Amino acid sequence: MRNEEMLLIPGPTPVVDSIYDAMAQETRGHTDPRFAAIYKSAIEKTREMLKTDGEVFVISGSGTIAMEMALVNTVAAGEKLLIISQGFFGDRFIHLAKAFGIEAEVIQSEWGKQADPALVEEKLAGETFKAVTITHADTSTGVAADLDALVPIIKKHGALVILDGVCATAAMEEDMSKSYGDGKIDIVLTGSQKAIGVPPGLAIVAFNQTALAARNQIERVPAYYCDIYNWLPIMHDPQKYFATPPVNLIYGFDEGMRLVLEEGMENRYQRHAAYGKAVRAALAVYGMKALAEENAAADTLSCILYPEGMNDAEFRKALAEKGVIVAGALAHLAGKAFRVGHMGNINEEMLENAIVKIGEAVQELGFEADLEQAVRRFRELALPVA
Ligand SMILES: Cc1ncc(COP(=O)(O)O)c(C=O)c1O
Repeated sequence: MRNEEMLLIPGPTPVVDSIYDAMAQETRGHTDPRFAAIYKSAIEKTREMLKTDGEVFVISGSGTIAMEMALVNTVAAGEKLLIISQGFFGDRFIHLAKAFGIEAEVIQSEWGKQADPALVEEKLAGETFKAVTITHADTSTGVAADLDALVPIIKKHGALVILDGVCATAAMEEDMSKSYGDGKIDIVLTGSQKAIGVPPGLAIVAFNQTALAARNQIERVPAYYCDIYNWLPIMHDPQKYFATPPVNLIYGFDEGMRLVLEEGMENRYQRHAAYGKAVRAALAVYGMKALAEENAAADTLSCILYPEGMNDAEFRKALAEKGVIVAGALAHLAGKAFRVGHMGNINEEMLENAIVKIGEAVQELGFEADLEQAVRRFRELALPVA
């Protein structure tokens, strides 16, 4: 990798050379058949990854545009949305719902804890909701949603499942062909910059047939750029024009998706699960504990609490001087924790190196850190015996 720093924030994630090389190809006109063929191929690869029977949209924008696109095309003003929030990004749906006059109710779990499926059951048994949002991995807390528990409950009550995969897609299972009791995940939305490992700038949303039917029932969507009906012709034939696509980013995305499919989804899920466990176990050796319990922890990123007395800014500065970049924590956890990504096109060597650098930074700040023991723990878990 030609990157000079190790970008271990929870996205964007390190970009591999073949993606940079793809992006450095000559910029062509967005209706040029040579570009259209690459756009088409990227859309098809996305469809293969998510296994939807419906439509895939790959457009300019960040994950928030993908959230907006999912919501405005399925839930009309005045209809009800249930938000299962496990942190800051779950809460973002509250703001979106408000902006579009959607009636939202929230099941809020304490930061670091998973949502209680019994509360979801109780809520859905009591009233009818058009859709329910789940944040697969909340980037603020490092908590993963328990899809096997939540999705069957939601489908039993006939609501649409909108899954925010911004911090999970391509690393944690999101299989739209999988049956969860009475139904399937209806929408997966994501961005290019996290576990897919491509620079930021693409919003990606997959709708199954049930979600498309929900769009059909909405007479007037309160959006123009985000109305999927404006994008459908382009997704079917990228030589058509609606709004100029980010040509070079799509070159990079097509290569990123090639790498994802080449590795294979199962391998990717296993690799990320191992990385998550290994990073958290190694950091625990330094007295740095994850906010989430291990059985609720996301495979893609961890929110790590500082040992008593460790200064956030000093720690992250010392680490950045060693070329490893991690992120601060959000909201009430700011200063008390940091967030480390372990997703995308990274490998064991990079993560092990980060564990060593983190240990060195801890020592520089005057705390004890057993680097050898941390590396041993990391290796035991990051390299599962095949
Ligand atoms: C789970 C989740 N959802 C949504 C978003 C918003 O994505 P973006 O910042 O690309 O708009 C993020 C960003 O980190 C996220 O982690």
